[in-house]
Amino acid sequence: MKLKKTAYTFEQAKVYDVTRFMSPSGRAIHNMELSLLKYFLKFTSTKKNILEVGCGTGRLLIELFKLGYLVEGADASKNMLKKLLEKARLLKIIINYKHLESANLKIKKKYNFVYAIRLLNQTESKNYALKSIKEMIRITKPGGHILAEFVNVNRPRIGRNSTKTTRLSHKIISEANFSENWGCTIIKNKGLFFFGMGSIMATPTLFINIVVKFDKLLSTLFPRYCSRGYILLKKNDKK
Ligand SMILES: C[S@@+](CC[C@H](N)C(=O)[O-])C[C@H]1O[C@@H](n2cnc3c(N)ncnc32)[C@H](O)[C@@H]1O
Repeated sequence: MKLKKTAYTFEQAKVYDVTRFMSPSGRAIHNMELSLLKYFLKFTSTKKNILEVGCGTGRLLIELFKLGYLVEGADASKNMLKKLLEKARLLKIIINYKHLESANLKIKKKYNFVYAIRLLNQTESKNYALKSIKEMIRITKPGGHILAEFVNVNRPRIGRNSTKTTRLSHKIISEANFSENWGCTIIKNKGLFFFGMGSIMATPTLFINIVVKFDKLLSTLFPRYCSRGYILLKKNDKK
């Protein structure tokens, strides 16, 4: 596979878990994402045949695995997948993974549930991100589910942001599903990080739990205004 520019490098793989998710605020952010992911799995009654696209070091995937979910991973970065392998070895678990790019998932197998978290915003363009969702749908069984998380285009940008981010919205995805005939029904629209991840990162440790509680409440009430959007699609049964 040709090396994708958006695939994380050796340096990024080395520091990914440590710099983002080890501090008290980083842990809080991780737990918020994990609990929402678990909510969707519970809601769809999925336990096995799950694939994370853009799984990286397995931050979420390994947690699910520990809880008894059968999850596989795919990522465009060999360095991130190497980290995933190292973590799995330490835990003495076996994780199936594939070195693939999201817009061209060379997978024949069909999954019950395919999800992507913190992937679509990393991809090179809106078209590429939508193509990735289409690929996720292709490798899902009829009746199965696809969970796409994205950086919300409707959310005003606060502060400086030097990195390029591909942004989507519930509406953009819903319109593409309709106009491109993806063959899915949208089951749920949710949001997370109403205050933005930066605000949680900046919160003193003592107050993190309070901010998280408020964030969850406001995210439930106003999903379309959150910095991250989640959309759950169900692949229609064949007629
Ligand atoms: C921010 S990390 C997220 C990792 C994991 N999902 C998580 O939440 O911790 C983004 C991951 O997407 C991968 N990636 C970027 N572009 C990709 C693509 N086109 N296809 C597959 N993976 C890609 C990167 O290599 C990186 O591992």
